[in-house]
Amino acid sequence: MRGPDGPICRTVADAVYVLDAIVGFDHNDAATREASKYIPHGGYKQFLKPYGLNKKRLGIVRNPFVVKGSEITKVFEHHIHKMRNRGAVVVDNLKITNMDDILNSSASGELVTLLAEFKVSLNSYLKGLVVSPVRSLADVIAFNNKFSKLEKIKEYGQTLFDAAQVTKGIDSDVKEASSNLAKLSRNGLEKLMRENKLDAVVTPGYKFATVLAIGGYPGINVPAGYDSNGVPFGICFGGLKGTEPKLIEIAYGFEQATKIRKPPSFKH
Ligand SMILES: *[C@@H]1O[C@H](CO)[C@@H](O)[C@H](O)[C@H]1NC(C)=O
Repeated sequence: MRGPDGPICRTVADAVYVLDAIVGFDHNDAATREASKYIPHGGYKQFLKPYGLNKKRLGIVRNPFVVKGSEITKVFEHHIHKMRNRGAVVVDNLKITNMDDILNSSASGELVTLLAEFKVSLNSYLKGLVVSPVRSLADVIAFNNKFSKLEKIKEYGQTLFDAAQVTKGIDSDVKEASSNLAKLSRNGLEKLMRENKLDAVVTPGYKFATVLAIGGYPGINVPAGYDSNGVPFGICFGGLKGTEPKLIEIAYGFEQATKIRKPPSFKH
């Protein structure tokens, strides 16, 4: 699977409980064969350590995620300070040299790969359901055309669905795109992490998800603050394959040191 997807939970602990429940080998999903070898004995809950930031090496990649002078950046600087206070070794101003290529989803091959994998995976999932009014991506598109009153879905969602529908499986173009993504990751995040001996990269917001998604790397986003309109934003911790234990220690350590999240109040 390639995509910045995952459970949305109230707390790091909740996310870790979900992770413990969903990891494992699934013979219907080839990607889980490789991923399941990383599951630690005893599961992930053992890494919920309140002082998990201590001695972790955290890399800050500013360009293009940290916008100078913004509201979010001010809060982010404060969090960097806090993480240092909790014993983290912060390595600032790092650069991923091929970042522009990574973030251009049409040039990198991300879009081609995502659309083709989406169609193949969705078709295989829908086909296997015991009862369902739709059995394929083509059925979903027809269903939306027939019943959707939401212009937004027609405009945005359907454009992606249509683009996926015209793909022709995992052909040579998709394989070439996939191997380009792997190369971008090797020369990008992998190189940065190894050269600086990092445990995680830290960025504000969610946009680092692309860097993680194209390489199949794990990441976790934790509440980091609210802007002047009350809109919440997060801080993202990402790392290399199989480093979920470290990411959980870091994310939990950050959450316990900051306790940012407030329950929503639904006020208008
Ligand atoms: C992304 O790549 C495409 C194709 O190579 C190119 O035409 C486009 O200008 C690039 N976009 C950006 C924002 O660099």
